[in-house]
Amino acid sequence: MKDININGFKETIIERTDYPLEKCKEILDKEVTAILGYGPQGRGQSLNMRDQGFKVILGLRRGKSWDQALEDGWKDGENLFELDGAARRGSIIQFLISDAAQIQLWPMVKENLNDGDALYFSHGFGVVFHKDTNIIPPKNVDVILVAPKGSGLTVRNHFLDGRGINSSYAIHQDYTGKAKDRCVATAFAIGSGHLFETTFEKEVHSDLTGERCVLMGLLQGAFLAQYEVLREHGHSPSEAYNETIEEALQSLYPLVAENGMDWMYANCSTTAQRGALDWAPKFKDTLKPIIEECYQNVLSGEEARISIKTNSKADYREQLEKELREINDQEMWQAGKQLRPLRPENI
Ligand SMILES: NC(=O)c1ccc[n+]([C@@H]2O[C@H](COP(=O)([O-])OP(=O)(O)OC[C@H]3O[C@@H](n4cnc5c(N)ncnc54)[C@H](OP(=O)(O)O)[C@@H]3O)[C@@H](O)[C@H]2O)c1
Repeated sequence: MKDININGFKETIIERTDYPLEKCKEILDKEVTAILGYGPQGRGQSLNMRDQGFKVILGLRRGKSWDQALEDGWKDGENLFELDGAARRGSIIQFLISDAAQIQLWPMVKENLNDGDALYFSHGFGVVFHKDTNIIPPKNVDVILVAPKGSGLTVRNHFLDGRGINSSYAIHQDYTGKAKDRCVATAFAIGSGHLFETTFEKEVHSDLTGERCVLMGLLQGAFLAQYEVLREHGHSPSEAYNETIEEALQSLYPLVAENGMDWMYANCSTTAQRGALDWAPKFKDTLKPIIEECYQNVLSGEEARISIKTNSKADYREQLEKELREINDQEMWQAGKQLRPLRPENI
């Protein structure tokens, strides 16, 4: 455990050394973990558990995920079952179906929860927005959360690289008195690096804000705005793309990740340094009210309702593909398509 104190805010970080693999195996010795869903999270978490020797089974409907699971070596009737078959067999049920589909499948999951089972989520969405999802767990189960701070692909790739991905964890309901141990042991079984504590509410509010803002929505908006300004002033696509995206993602962001922003500012040209120092507060002042508006929309449940409504429509896939095609067709990303293969390592 590492106690950290940031500006008077104290937190305890749980590290792998606090829960070595053998301890996790002891805690989960009598458990069968049933993972429902084989999207990026279900796949990454289940393969990592399987590779580390935990008792894990999958519950899927037949189709895309099922075929992928067979390809990954899961065996029909042995550790691969229909959704209700796995839910019936599991003592820890990891509900990793898409958030919108969890609404439909909840009655089946609820029916298969036995006294003392644990219900596990990787997102607080279903439980927190229960007025819209109707996901209200019974009182006689543990309700726990482990939310890897990254894509399910990273959960798997970092594990294969011998690293790990930081995750938050939360205990929503501790019926058995063992919810924390079950939660933390599972978090390390799925390949987490270190863990920080949260609540279902805080997890969902920060996650929805993050993906709408700095992680994805704001990022695409900012990239496009700068690319368009450069192009409108006569810069070539190569120049606009390299100055906006390639340099950010390939050079600067990894350095910021490694060393922090002050280091980045200290290790660029004095010209870049002066400009970045002057312009950063203007962006902050402009963006903060927009991020606040987004947070309020998340808090009120409006963002969740929009997401449930659109993701539940029959033509959801077609609409999504249309919107993604529009992004793909933007000149900025078309430039990326032609320029990425020309990176020296790809030639
Ligand atoms: N993606 C991330 O980076 C990330 C990060 C942290 C937490 N989470 C959370 O982890 C959970 C899983 O997310 P995900 O991104 O891994 O998966 P996802 O893409 O949201 O969901 C995919 C899985 O859901 C199944 N599914 C969808 N509709 C279904 C239905 N009606 N009946 C049965 N199965 C259905 C799919 O099966 P088929 O192949 O058969 O359609 C597939 O196995 C979510 O709660 C998400 O918020 C995700």
